[in-house]
Amino acid sequence: MPTWLVTGAEGMLGRELVALLHGVGEPVVPTSRAVLDVTEARAVDAAVSSIVRTAGGESQVRAIVVNLAAWTDVDAAEVDEPGARLVNVTGAANVARACRRAGARMIQLSTDYVFDGESDQPYAEDAPVAPATAYGRTKVEAEREVTDALPDTGVVLRTGWLYGVHGPNFVRTMVRMSDERPYVDVVNDQRGQPTWAFDLAERIVDVGRLLDASGIAGVLHATNSGSTTWYGLARAVFAERGLDPDRVRPVGSDRMPRLTPRPAYSVLGHDRWARIGLAPMRPWRTALAAAAPTVLSGD
Ligand SMILES: NC(=O)c1ccc[n+]([C@@H]2O[C@H](COP(=O)([O-])OP(=O)(O)OC[C@H]3O[C@@H](n4cnc5c(N)ncnc54)[C@H](OP(=O)(O)O)[C@@H]3O)[C@@H](O)[C@H]2O)c1
Repeated sequence: MPTWLVTGAEGMLGRELVALLHGVGEPVVPTSRAVLDVTEARAVDAAVSSIVRTAGGESQVRAIVVNLAAWTDVDAAEVDEPGARLVNVTGAANVARACRRAGARMIQLSTDYVFDGESDQPYAEDAPVAPATAYGRTKVEAEREVTDALPDTGVVLRTGWLYGVHGPNFVRTMVRMSDERPYVDVVNDQRGQPTWAFDLAERIVDVGRLLDASGIAGVLHATNSGSTTWYGLARAVFAERGLDPDRVRPVGSDRMPRLTPRPAYSVLGHDRWARIGLAPMRPWRTALAAAAPTVLSGD
């Protein structure tokens, strides 16, 4: 059984992953920014080499580092790209190099924002990246740091449209608005794959076990299957809560101006899962129904 080290462990996905690892009885060292700042190379080195020792000695690779530490505020990254680059690129590079030195495996989280969002077909894992935002640029650079440092033992998991019980996210916002407002206007011209953080955490554990057992590497797309628009997702949230979905009204993005334009098309292809022996993640609508008792409660 590998020992896990999770950075950014107090974020939305981190809390889900750490709870899951505790639940399945795998040893995990969760680190928040206060405990381990990924921009500090020496601290990252010390933390990674210490779990490799805990995990059984440097000649025996039994450690998996999941780097969830990230600057995730897309609009703030546009205003302060160097700040976002420090966390997303330098941080990922520090973790990847520490893993290479210590002999640990690594899973890096990435995003649909690495693509331009102008396609009308799902982006394959090896489709050319063309980020249209500062956040996307930093995540592309982070991907390269990881795949360059760990060509045989580093996995990049791209995800998108994440929701869960922890932290602010679109689904939780819709739950609140469905309690507070008679009608909600939601954009209907951006398409993506709503992904439940719990499903993604399970997928990270599956990938970690494969990494530990046989060694896999490269880019995989970790989103729930199928696709919808934000409007479609909002309607599904209302329906799942037993409310009238017609209380959600479709609008164009031009009605909701934002500092950083969001990609119009963020659908990721899943072909590579078959090659490593895993099925794609379940359909987003099935996942939302499974998430309802926890994520869609009004508490
Ligand atoms: N949420 C999505 O829809 C989505 C979509 C695609 C990809 N992703 C990726 O998935 C990963 C996890 O996302 P998430 O939604 O869980 O993000 P999140 O809730 O924002 O969590 C990120 C965590 O990283 C921490 N952090 C920031 N700077 C750090 C540093 N220098 N050192 C250590 N920790 C630091 C943050 O701590 P503070 O709170 O103290 O800043 C926060 O706890 C990220 O790589 C993100 O890019 C997310």
